[in-house]
Amino acid sequence: MTTIAAIILAAGAGTRMKSSKAKVLHQIAGRPMISHLLSTVDEMQPARKIVVVAPHMDDVRAEVAPAETAIQPEALGTGSAVAAALPALEGFDGSVLVLFGDCPLITLETLQDMAAGLEGDDNTAAVILGFEPEDPAEYGRLVVAEDGTLDAIVEYADASEAERAIRICNSGVMAIRGRHLKDLITSIDNNNAKNEYYLTSIVEIAKAKGLTCKVAMGDEEELLGVNNRVQLAEAEAVVQKRWRVSAMMGGATLIDPASVFLSHDTRLGRDVVIEPNVVFGPGVVVGDGVRIKAHSHIEGAVIGNGAQVGPFARLRPGAVLAEDVKIGNFVEIKKSDLEKGAKVSHLSYIGDARVGAEANIGAGTITCNYDGYDKYRTDIGKGAFIGSNTALVAPVVIGDGAIVGAGSTVARDVEADALALVRAEQVHKQGWAERFRKMKLRLKNKTS
Ligand code: UD1
Ligand code: CA
Repeated sequence: MTTIAAIILAAGAGTRMKSSKAKVLHQIAGRPMISHLLSTVDEMQPARKIVVVAPHMDDVRAEVAPAETAIQPEALGTGSAVAAALPALEGFDGSVLVLFGDCPLITLETLQDMAAGLEGDDNTAAVILGFEPEDPAEYGRLVVAEDGTLDAIVEYADASEAERAIRICNSGVMAIRGRHLKDLITSIDNNNAKNEYYLTSIVEIAKAKGLTCKVAMGDEEELLGVNNRVQLAEAEAVVQKRWRVSAMMGGATLIDPASVFLSHDTRLGRDVVIEPNVVFGPGVVVGDGVRIKAHSHIEGAVIGNGAQVGPFARLRPGAVLAEDVKIGNFVEIKKSDLEKGAKVSHLSYIGDARVGAEANIGAGTITCNYDGYDKYRTDIGKGAFIGSNTALVAPVVIGDGAIVGAGSTVARDVEADALALVRAEQVHKQGWAERFRKMKLRLKNKTS
């Protein structure tokens, strides 16, 4: 196998996004689009990886680090962008993959096919990845010769009517033989409708030098270019569809797959059931046999085997649920460990806490963890029982097996197996209600 280098172009202005943020930093499934692309590229184990950015794009450089970056001083076109990466590849004799940061859905298999297309036949200068989209819109068109090699790529703006009728489009992805890279790229000029240095010109340049360019075909879905927010939403749909399929193939049941949103790193165990309308942010690990009920929002959480979550639950970063924990409706958990079998079934906020094994947290329990400046911990022992509508004013420790009476505001530690009851004494006045009603009636009759 030849060694591979990858050049990823990301220096374009991204005007059509109408955004103050660089286009390649716009997120798909909670992750910048360029990171999706880079992680696919990494699977190819390239010897070199160079991301081409504009001078002001420090944010992009930070995002792609530790990947090497090259600066394109001015956005003069895709050809000039590749030229910016040439110094980094001086003397490189492998295969160079050129990829677009705004074409992030390409698969590993396609990249491998592209690289393989350059193997053997020394006369091939480049392999160009084409596709046949349903609507060829303003993509560049591939002019394919009778023998199947490529004559030219014509940009839409420069194309004749006849060329615009061609349905095979340029995806932008190419594999170029390293040996020819510098010579081809430095021969590009800007004599075209946009006065840009088009990377696509290398096809005709190669031909004039007696070299050939081949075509590989990819599918529309993976070659979607993201230029505006409509295409961004289309890309999101493609990614989500892929992840839903892999979640289901991996042994999770998604009752209504289209309404479940996953993250790139969502890990689901076997026999997990996910009900409709569940959103996974990054950093979620779900054990075996877990059921996540409808309308739950989960991020940065670990859910142990056999646990039940929701409906309408919110698990925030640092929520760690051990085996068989039960989290019910309208419960929010943040940065808390819930030990085996603990239950928080209704309408509670548990933050910066430990809830011991088999403890039961009653409806409406709130850990008051914040005084406006700092956060404090609540520690609830195993088997403790917290009555409904309890405020636990942290820092506070509830001992193992303790019981807290409903409606308590607990600000001092409770000993193991004790009862804490913080309530005003209940007062009964016999007959008071009846006397009250009679008095009201008398007053009403007097005035009418
Ligand atoms: C490009 C192709 C077109 C193809 C389409 C596929 C050229 C000339 N045209 O058009 O044939 O059908 O992609 O999606 O190659 N970039 C730079 N520096 C620049 C200009 C662009 O780094 O000076 C980067 C952009 O950030 C982007 C990529 O190159 O990631 C493509 O640029 P864009 O302007 O979107 O090209 P298209 O008009 O889509
Ligand atoms: Ca584009």
